This record gives sequence, C-alpha cells and structure tokens, in this order.
Amino acid sequence: MRILVTGGAGFIGSNFVRNLLSGRYPKIPNPKVTVLDALTYSGTLTNLRPVADHPGCTFVQGDIRDVELVNSVVPGHDAVVHFAAESHVDRSIHGPLPFVTTNVTGTAVLLDAARAHRTGRFVHVSTDEVYGSIPAGSWREDQPLAPNSPYAASKAGSDLLALSYHRTHGLDVVVTRCSNNYGPHQFPEKVIPLFVTRLLAGQDVPLYGDGGNVRDWLHVDDHCAGIELALRGGRSGEVYHIGGGTELTNRELTGLLLRACGAGWERVRAVEDRKGHDRRYSLAIGKIQEELGYRPSIPFEQGLAATVDWYRDNATWWEPLLDRAALGV
Ligand SMILES: NC(=O)c1ccc[n+]([C@@H]2O[C@H](COP(=O)([O-])OP(=O)(O)OC[C@H]3O[C@@H](n4cnc5c(N)ncnc54)[C@H](O)[C@@H]3O)[C@@H](O)[C@H]2O)c1
Repeated sequence: MRILVTGGAGFIGSNFVRNLLSGRYPKIPNPKVTVLDALTYSGTLTNLRPVADHPGCTFVQGDIRDVELVNSVVPGHDAVVHFAAESHVDRSIHGPLPFVTTNVTGTAVLLDAARAHRTGRFVHVSTDEVYGSIPAGSWREDQPLAPNSPYAASKAGSDLLALSYHRTHGLDVVVTRCSNNYGPHQFPEKVIPLFVTRLLAGQDVPLYGDGGNVRDWLHVDDHCAGIELALRGGRSGEVYHIGGGTELTNRELTGLLLRACGAGWERVRAVEDRKGHDRRYSLAIGKIQEELGYRPSIPFEQGLAATVDWYRDNATWWEPLLDRAALGV
C-alpha cells in the first residue's frame, strides 16, 4: 500500500509513520510512505530519524497549500492520511490566518488533488474540539459541530470539507475525531511536554484559570492504532471517534506531572484563563469499538511515566525546539 502522510514530521504523524514502517501494523504489509510536510515550527526531521533510511520512506518538504506541488505528489498513492495542520489553540487566538489557510485551504487542495488523481481512501484526522464543550455525558459522531476557538473552527471547516468531498464527489473519505494526545515527540508548547520540560529545567509551570478544565488523555500510539483501523476498515463517508483515555482536570494532571518530575506545588503559577477555554470534552467511542474492534491499550499512569522518562532522556530533542515554542515565533 502506498500511503501519502501529510504532517508526518509532526508529533502524531511521525508516530504513525514510525509505527507503519517498523511493522507495528502487520495488516498493512510492506507499506510505502511519502511524507509531505512543510517543516513549520512544530515539524522536525528528527522525528523521522528512526525510519529515514527505510527503503519505503520518501520525504517531500512542501506546503499542502501549494496546488502545483500537491498535484505532483498525490498521484500514485493508494491512500492519504492527512495530519498536517496548525495545531495549537493558543496560537490560533493570537493569529488565526495560518489556521484558516493551512487547515481549511490546505485540506481543500489535498481533497481536490485526491479527487482529480483518483486516490483511494482519504483519512482526515480531526479532533474532539470541533464539538465545543460538554458539561456532562459524551458526544456521539452525529453531534452538530459547535467549535469555540479559531483552531477548532478551522478544524471543523476542514472536517466538513472532507465529508463534503464524499457526498459531492464520492471520494472515499473517513474522518477520525480524537481526544487529547500525549507521548514522546510532542512539541513543547502543549501542556504535558511544556510542563515536563519546564519542570525538568527547574522552571515554574503556568496553570490556566481554576485548573478545572477536563480533558480525556489518550496515548499517541492508541490514537494511531485507531487511525490504522479507520484506514483499513472504516466505512466510506463515516466519522469515527478515537478516545477512551483518562479524564482528568488540568489540576489533577498537574499534580501527576509534579510528582513524576519530583517537584512540588510551589512551582505552579496561576495564570489568567485562556480566552473561550472549553471546559470539558468527552467522546463516546462505541462506534469504533463495535465496528472496527478498537481498544485503547496503554494505561495512563504507565504511558505518562514512560513519556516523562522519554523527555528526561531526550533533552537533545527538545532543547533546540524551545526557542520555537515561544508564542509568535
Ligand atoms: N495533538 C492532539 O492532541 C490532537 C488531538 C486530536 C487531533 N489532532 C490533529 O492531529 C493532527 C496532528 O497534530 P499534531 O499534534 O501532531 O500537530 P503538530 O503541530 O505536532 O504537527 C503538525 C505537522 O504539520 C506540518 N504542517 C503544518 N502546516 C503545514 C502546511 N501548510 N503544509 C505541510 N505541512 C504542514 C508541521 O510542519 C508539522 O510537522 C492535526 O491535524 C491535529 O488537528 C491532534
């Protein structure tokens, strides 16, 4: 199977590529992967180093908004797995334009190239943030979208565009919507790597508002396992939730991270809440469990401990990225 992976030098995309090329998905034997990635501030080739010399791996540095380039790269692939995006909510609050152009326009460019070149399956990687916030209970896949941040709104736009290409053109689209991911290689602007790298460097950490916002934390390997199932077995035109991690308030998460890094609460600074901060996300995952046999497999405490160890052992990965992690860089 020849798979085009956009955003494959980022956190989740590179995890998917490393797993694919190292044989973690035996039902996709001998995959050939093309990574298309612009290497923005959050993408780095070091994420692909373990598979860089793999004969099935080709890297193309380029922008998904570049119509000519995308139309030269897409032909010859059996599937597209589309991760590339501007992905950080706080950045979208400070500057929404790259979110609109990459997440919406870039997705339209890819979808149209996939249609024109008759690519097979197109997996669009979306997020639970497209639904807004839910005080109790869980969303099902037919819940109307009500995004609150510019990031979530741009992801909702791309998510709906992907579904429109199925309905309008019959493109073989599957959309996955996942909860918050954690794991190695996550850019140190997102809360878990931000806190861990700051705590390991002896610095304080910022806790938004009252710390009561709730997120469902899923290990990146479990997200990628769900994407692999959707790629092979998802029904065309359908949306699948990927979640089933561990629900925690930010305050609870902070306590676990402090303990894992051997630090105390004196290292936590309360900061003004994020504008429009969604209180809680929660996905019902019965559909992907029943149709595709999905089961998250990594217990949170075990995954978090391994992740903290990874950051402790790989300062050479994250230290050079810290300058880029500063907002607006
Ligand atoms: N991180 C999460 O918790 C989470 C949860 C659910 C869904 N998602 C979705 O998963 C996908 C990947 O997220 P991530 O956390 O790995 O993000 P990331 O920021 O780590 O990686 C994004 C990658 O996309 C590339 N990119 C950005 N703009 C591009 C462009 N115009 N052209 C080509 N490449 C471009 C970057 O260089 C980077 O390698 C995103 O679509 C995101 O919305 C993320």
